[in-house]
Amino acid sequence: MIVCVCRRVSDHQIRQAAADGAHSLECLQIDLGVAMQCGRCADCASRVLCDARATGAPRQHHIAFPRSLQPQAA
Ligand code: FES
Repeated sequence: MIVCVCRRVSDHQIRQAAADGAHSLECLQIDLGVAMQCGRCADCASRVLCDARATGAPRQHHIAFPRSLQPQAA
C-alpha cells in the first residue's frame, strides 16, 4: 500500500526502515522523504511505523544521514 503519494513510499518501505532502526517520523522524513511535501501522510506513516516497531522488527542503532551524504552504489 502506498502511504505517501507525493513521494511514492509504501508501507513496506516504512516497515523496512523500522527494521533498520527508524524510530520517529523525522527518521522517515530523512530516510524516505515521507511527509515532506503536502504532509497528509504524516499520521498514517506514524501509525505504520508504530505498528512495525510494536510487532517486533529487530532494533539496530539508527544513524540517519541525509540521502545527499549517503554513499552511492557503484
Ligand atoms: S502524501 Fe506524503 S507528502 Fe504528500
